[in-house]
Amino acid sequence: MTVVAEPTAAPVHRRVERIPDACAMVIFGASGDLTRRKLMPALYQLARERLLPPCFSVVGNSRRGMSDDAFRAEMRTAVERFGGAVETEIWRGFEQRLFYVQGSSDDASTYQRIATRLADLDRDCGAQGNRMFYLAVSPSLMPGIAHNLQAAGLSKSAGWTRIIVEKPFGHDLQSARQLNQALHAVFSEEQVYRIDHYLGKETVQNLLVFRFANGIFDPVWNRRYVDQVQITAAETVGVENRATYYEEAGALRDMVQNHLIQLLTLTAMEPPVAFDSESVRAEKVKVLRSIRPLVGAGVEQIAVRGQYGPGLIDGQRVVGYRQEPGVNPQSSIETFVALKLHLDNWRWAGVPFYLRAGKRLPKHWTEIAVQFKQPPLALFGGTQCGQLAPNLLSIRIQPDEGISLEFAAKTPGPGMDVRPVDMDFHYATSFGMASYSAYERLLLDSMLGDATLFARSEGVELAWAVMAPILERWQHEPPPVFPNYGAGTWGPAEANALLEVGHRWRNPLPTPQPQATPRIPA
Ligand SMILES: NC(=O)c1ccc[n+]([C@@H]2O[C@H](COP(=O)([O-])OP(=O)(O)OC[C@H]3O[C@@H](n4cnc5c(N)ncnc54)[C@H](OP(=O)(O)O)[C@@H]3O)[C@@H](O)[C@H]2O)c1
Repeated sequence: MTVVAEPTAAPVHRRVERIPDACAMVIFGASGDLTRRKLMPALYQLARERLLPPCFSVVGNSRRGMSDDAFRAEMRTAVERFGGAVETEIWRGFEQRLFYVQGSSDDASTYQRIATRLADLDRDCGAQGNRMFYLAVSPSLMPGIAHNLQAAGLSKSAGWTRIIVEKPFGHDLQSARQLNQALHAVFSEEQVYRIDHYLGKETVQNLLVFRFANGIFDPVWNRRYVDQVQITAAETVGVENRATYYEEAGALRDMVQNHLIQLLTLTAMEPPVAFDSESVRAEKVKVLRSIRPLVGAGVEQIAVRGQYGPGLIDGQRVVGYRQEPGVNPQSSIETFVALKLHLDNWRWAGVPFYLRAGKRLPKHWTEIAVQFKQPPLALFGGTQCGQLAPNLLSIRIQPDEGISLEFAAKTPGPGMDVRPVDMDFHYATSFGMASYSAYERLLLDSMLGDATLFARSEGVELAWAVMAPILERWQHEPPPVFPNYGAGTWGPAEANALLEVGHRWRNPLPTPQPQATPRIPA
């Protein structure tokens, strides 16, 4: 059963609600992977959709020497590679607004040149001093950039000034606090936008609409009806070309502290008094405060780590983590984490929230699964109903964004045979229009000054505080014998032992691979 939205008249353009004020965006790290892979394709797409302000400019910075023209050519190649073909007319207009200033982030003269360029842009096209500084650089450079922006008089202007900070936001609680302090020494909290691109995904935003705009789900969204919640972020890829970063981070820092905890807060939060950034983020912080603190040896009862060995992904043989280029052959970094968390609050007391993230798992798949309790009586006990799975609401974040509800239905025929069926909603097909990519949405929101989908300093620190006992324990205890799961499996067997009696991980079947076309005999 598939749910299709009310028809709209062959929509091509998405509905525009607000166009941001004229502004300039300075990207530190403009020659880097993030700028090429995500930021520039998103900005071009916004230009194509006519969602950028009429006077919008980008000033790229990194140490590499490049002219404005060379930067424009490089960005075009990046957009074509990571965003698809460009339309020449639109690109021509867009690239005229791209500029480049070369210089190291620790050199004061870099900021003088950026300031001069921004002043020119203000004068030429009336950006009125509205500026956002995007830190697409290693976290170690961020405090220095904030300080140097202030020293150059760039932390304030005649218009608005915002600073956008990429993940990872710190390496642990202490470093997150230090980074917050360094940013707050220059910028007010309202000026700081901490990006978690998961929050820009359509389904994640829809979670709030789903919960708070539909009368039928709110009454059952609590301990009385919900048996368990599973939040899984499974990747089939290995460490790819990110070994240097990943060897420092691991799955807990890379995925759980930020993305999965954000999904947990949106799933569990109370209704906010208004749909604005302060109210939504205040409710999310309350959820973080309610996570039952973990202590010492208790960590073993709620957290399992794993590292992949060699195995098969989509029928292809792949190496283990320790054999990946750039990885220490004795590495004890985890590529898999499973957690069991409890929220000590009125709504969720007694309901386990299972979180799981891993690399080289059998399917690329991110989902929030809310499993409801079984009905009180097995009225159809003599039938297959006794073995039926309970109702399950699956909120798919990627790759196929959407929502499905599993329930029992009678199969046609004279007998009383009962089977599970789905009501299915797919973003890709239901509205006849494309979704914004996460970066498009978040860049647009930061230009509009809407911080609802960005993390607040308190929220980031609380999320690190939840992780701190696990990180500490893992740092001091020797890891289990790694590797402890094969590539292409659902992680170490110990992850099953985390679950309460009667609970099982939802492990969907791998996506079927296209079969080779059989040869037709001549
Ligand atoms: N790549 C992704 O998909 C992704 C996703 C999420 C988050 N992030 C985060 O985004 C940040 C950037 O990641 P990335 O993958 O783009 O890294 P990257 O490819 O290594 O790029 C780093 C950028 O920083 C510049 N840079 C380094 N040192 C500098 C200095 N002293 N002064 C001025 N510029 C300097 C580099 O250019 P020069 O060497 O020419 O100076 C380059 O442009 C990191 O915090 C990362 O964790 C990345």
